[in-house]
Amino acid sequence: YIGDGEADSQEVDSLIESLPKIPFLRKFHCYKYDGFWYRENHLRAVLSCKKHFRFQDSDILLTSFPKCGTTWLKSILYTIINRLRNPIGSEDHPLLTNSPHTLVRGFENDLYANNAIPDLSNMHAPRLFQLMHQLYHFVMRNHKDCFNSFWHFLNKLKSLEASTVSLDEFFDSFCSGRNAYGPFWDHVVRHWNVSLAMPGKLMFLSYEQIIEQPDHYVKKMAEFMGCPFSRVEEDEGVVSGIVKMCSFTHLSQLEANKSGRTKSGADHCAFFRQGEVGDSKNLLSSEMIKRIDQIAQNNFSPYGLKI
Ligand code: A3P
Repeated sequence: YIGDGEADSQEVDSLIESLPKIPFLRKFHCYKYDGFWYRENHLRAVLSCKKHFRFQDSDILLTSFPKCGTTWLKSILYTIINRLRNPIGSEDHPLLTNSPHTLVRGFENDLYANNAIPDLSNMHAPRLFQLMHQLYHFVMRNHKDCFNSFWHFLNKLKSLEASTVSLDEFFDSFCSGRNAYGPFWDHVVRHWNVSLAMPGKLMFLSYEQIIEQPDHYVKKMAEFMGCPFSRVEEDEGVVSGIVKMCSFTHLSQLEANKSGRTKSGADHCAFFRQGEVGDSKNLLSSEMIKRIDQIAQNNFSPYGLKI
């Protein structure tokens, strides 16, 4: 599909000019669109995607706030839906030689970035994509661990020069929701509400749930996507094979995840840090914990979401 060039970009420029704007990391600006703060390049890509992308009924989208387990879920979902084509345990499984970010491409930071209009006609169904700002397989994470992981991630991305922003400053922006992709709170609540209204369309998961019962949730994800495991597959250990293959320990030591970069320039290795629950206690002071827990409580409890 070829877009209508000039007319497109003028429309987008004037829309962006009209939006509320805040600085982010002293290097970028974020614009508030449809309730959320976007970096300009992501917003341009989202607008282009909205215009050009055509959904198919069988499409599967994975969405999350950054640092909530996207890389992990990409590897799991990819492995589940492609297990007939690429059996678990095969020596040439694509996950052994590709970053999960190469196998499951994002709309904002990859496919539609930099004015690209991708040709998706060769993708076989079900197509699996990542979307950072909106709907269908949603993974959340404890707010403190998400913040902790986000902070460490930004400090790893030298290109962002995040080190020029203090922890306190970044914490304030995360809490108030005035940061890229934010507000975290609204992101979670919006998806939670959709999952209640349309349980068959959106599966709401948390990092902590999956860490605690990986086999159970891998089965749930397969059922949700309409490709449940057969008794024979279960007996043959396919579920535990997927859990093992997609585990932090396994993925983080593969060369494909130790080297190379995503399309948007992030080192693949930056997506693998510790992979544990509760590490935020090593970063946040007790005052910070009290404050962020209170904000989580205020935002989540009206909707029955536990913190
Ligand atoms: P930590 O920084 O707490 O270690 P995202 O993929 O959404 O960017 O999230 C990154 C977080 O998920 C990081 O958390 C990273 O270590 C963790 N992670 C990456 N791959 C994982 C895996 N296979 N299993 C569990 N956690 C994983």
